[in-house]
Amino acid sequence: MTNVDSLGKALEQRFRCVRVPPARHVPSLEEDARNGLLSQPRSLPPKYFYDDHGSELFERICKTSEYYPTRTEDFLLQQHAQDIIRSTQPGKIFELGSGSSTKTQHLLDACNEIAHFPSYTAFDISERALLFGWETLSTRYDWLEIDLFLGDYEAGFKNIPRQNGSRLVVFLGSTIGNFEQDRAIGFMNDLRANMSNSDRLLVGFDRVKDEHILNAAYNDKDGITAAFNLNVLNVLNNELGANFDPDKFKHSANYDADKAQVEMHLVSACTHRVTFNTLATSIEIDAGESICTEISRKFTTKSLANLLGQAGFAIEQDFISADGYFSLVLAYPV
Ligand code: SAH
Ligand code: AVI
Repeated sequence: MTNVDSLGKALEQRFRCVRVPPARHVPSLEEDARNGLLSQPRSLPPKYFYDDHGSELFERICKTSEYYPTRTEDFLLQQHAQDIIRSTQPGKIFELGSGSSTKTQHLLDACNEIAHFPSYTAFDISERALLFGWETLSTRYDWLEIDLFLGDYEAGFKNIPRQNGSRLVVFLGSTIGNFEQDRAIGFMNDLRANMSNSDRLLVGFDRVKDEHILNAAYNDKDGITAAFNLNVLNVLNNELGANFDPDKFKHSANYDADKAQVEMHLVSACTHRVTFNTLATSIEIDAGESICTEISRKFTTKSLANLLGQAGFAIEQDFISADGYFSLVLAYPV
C-alpha cells in the first residue's frame, strides 16, 4: 500500500458524513431540468454547480484577485470573531453551505483564544467540500467535535438532529444572494422556525458597489469563473445523459444595477440540438440564446434589513468592511 493509499484509507475510516433526508420535496435534477431547460427563458438552479470539480473551481475563484467577497469577509471575521463568540457563547456552531470551512477558522480560533469550546456542524450539498473542511478542522482543532451533514438545505432543517444549548448559525459568502427575494425569505423563515430564541444567526451579504468591480469579480482574467459556469454542462451530461458541448457556449456575467444583481448565463455560440437521454427528449438552442445559471444579489443596509425583517430576524450588529464592500450581520430571532 502506498502512502497515498493509506492516507486515503485513514480518511475513509475517520471521515463520516450523514446524509440528511429531505424534510420536504425538493425538485430532482430531472425536474429542474424539465422546468428550467425545456422552456424559455432557460435557467437552472445554482446548486448544480457544486459537483467535485465545481467545488474545486469555486475554491479557486475565491483565490482570484478579482473575487473580493472571500478576502473581505475573511478579514471581517478575523477582526470581529472574538466579539461574536464572546457575545453569543454558542454551544454549537452550525454552518450552512460551509464549503471548505476556511473562514470559519477565525471563529474557531477565537473560541480557542477565549477557551470556549463549542461543537461544529457543517451542512453542505458537496461531499468534497465537507471532506476538505473536515480535513483542515480536524487537524487544526483537536478539541473540536465535528458533525457533517450532506444534503440540500432548501429541503428544510427538521431532519437535522438538535441538542440542547444555543447555536450560532452561520451562512457565509453571501450565498443568500443566490436566492430570489421570495425564496430567500422562505429559506430564512424556515431557518428561523428551526432556531430557538437564544440562537443567533451570522450571515454574510455582499453589498452594492461600483459595477466595474462587480463585473470583474465574475469575469476573472484567468477564466476560472467561466470554467465554473461551463462545468454545469458537464454535470448535466453526467447526470442526465445529455450531450452538451461546452465549446459551443460562452460564459457571460453582467451586473444589472436596476435589479442589484449579477446574472450569470451560458450563451450559445451557434444553433444546435442537445439531447437528454434520461429525459428522453431534446431541445434546439438558437445562436445567442442563453441559460441563466445564477443570480448573485447585492445588498444595501436597507435591503438586507428588509430581508432579515421579513424572515423574522432583527439585526444585532452589522459589521461593514472599511471599503463598504461587504456586511457580516449578526442577527437574532424575533
Ligand atoms: N461558505 C463558503 C462556501 C460558499 S459557496 C464560503 O463562504 O466560501 C456555496 C456553498 O453552498 C458550496 O459549498 C455549495 O456546495 C453549498 N450549497 C449550494 N447550494 C446548496 C444547497 N441547496 N444545499 C446545501 N449546500 C448548498
Ligand atoms: C456562492 N456564491 C455566493 C458565489 C457568488 O458570488 O454568487 C458563487 C459564485 N458564482 C460565481 N462566482 C462565485
